[in-house]
Amino acid sequence: MQIRYNWFPILLSVIIAFIIINAVWDHYEQPEQKITISDANCWTGAGTNQIPVDADGELIRYGRKLIENTAYYLGPKGTVAHISNGMNCQNCHLEAGTKPWGNNYGAVASTYPKYRERSGHIESIEKRVNDCFERSLNGQAIDSLSKEMRAMVAYIKWLGKEIPKDTKPKGTGIMDLAYLTRAADPLKGKTVYITTCEKCHGKNGEGQINPDQTGYTYPPLWGNNSYNIGAGLFRLSRLAGYVKNNMPNPLNYHNPQLTDEQSWDVAAYINSQPRPAKDVSYDWPKIKSKPFDHPFGPYADSFTEEQHKYGPFEEIIQKAKLKNQK
Ligand code: HEC
Ligand code: HEC
Repeated sequence: MQIRYNWFPILLSVIIAFIIINAVWDHYEQPEQKITISDANCWTGAGTNQIPVDADGELIRYGRKLIENTAYYLGPKGTVAHISNGMNCQNCHLEAGTKPWGNNYGAVASTYPKYRERSGHIESIEKRVNDCFERSLNGQAIDSLSKEMRAMVAYIKWLGKEIPKDTKPKGTGIMDLAYLTRAADPLKGKTVYITTCEKCHGKNGEGQINPDQTGYTYPPLWGNNSYNIGAGLFRLSRLAGYVKNNMPNPLNYHNPQLTDEQSWDVAAYINSQPRPAKDVSYDWPKIKSKPFDHPFGPYADSFTEEQHKYGPFEEIIQKAKLKNQK
């Protein structure tokens, strides 16, 4: 009897201790279960064969075609209209916006409409698509109610339909690379360009037009037919992050060929070359919200346009953080 009476509190303490240790363990262990870059659990978009076979599916399928082959429909010799520069959305939103770290559309349906600092307004998906028409495709906005816009938006919404509102799955968009401690160097980048990129994109970044002249086999990286100075890729971090995980085409984030350093330098070379102009003076109406790598002043800090374009970026970011804490 005596023995049994003593066992109870001991057993109880052991159980309670076990529960506490477990809880504490979980609490501290969780954040360390970081997913490494090489893991396969990045968001990847559904393919064409998963698009439903009904009226909705027909619009979605047309949207995907417009994104894959924009020039055929809307380029300089487009069958529907002539409002863009001959590039395809897919040149930058790879595999029709489904490729992990390929500037995909995974987080668009879940995060739009949203407030964007660049315009200072709440933007719909339609507005965001037109931003790319006016900047990345150096063209004109299309009517929000046109069949083409409705189709592209239907496709983008369909791709992201399973992502919960306001979440951004891993692998969506463009990867942020570690910053260099020096400014990115166009001259070093030129060497990378000549050895790794030139054979497809051309000596003068002009790309290569396809045989039937409806678009590009290799899209241009600078010059009159490329994205303009208001485009996302004109920000060095966007271009470097895109190149690192996707170029030379068609590699992916599992086996990048360039180091971060080479990616920043080749981006500096590409963005130091001539390209179409755009009035960007209305962008980022709140100067304080300009991203560190927006290459046009005025700025809320005293760093030069040159440093905002090529870096080093760390000190710009640190200064902005300090300012915001005050
Ligand atoms: C020259 C490259 C380029 C082309 C061509 C291009 N885009 Fe973009 N697009 C970008 C970049 C860069 C971003 C911004 C990515 C970032 O900030 O991380 C972007 C962003 C977007 C977004 C918002 C993504 C998000 O998650 O917030 C949408 C939607 C979009 N583009 C649609 C299109 C469509 C549709 C077309 C064709 C009509 C197109 N883009 C053509 C480069 C391009
Ligand atoms: C084997 C040919 C090839 C090589 C080499 C190559 N690319 Fe590309 N690149 C492509 C193709 C093809 C696309 C368009 C992909 C698509 O539409 O699916 C592209 C797209 C791009 C784009 C986005 C579209 C644009 O025109 O702005 C950039 C930026 C780019 N490449 C940069 C580079 C850089 C930098 C290198 C060298 C590190 C490089 N590429 C090497 C074939 C190549």
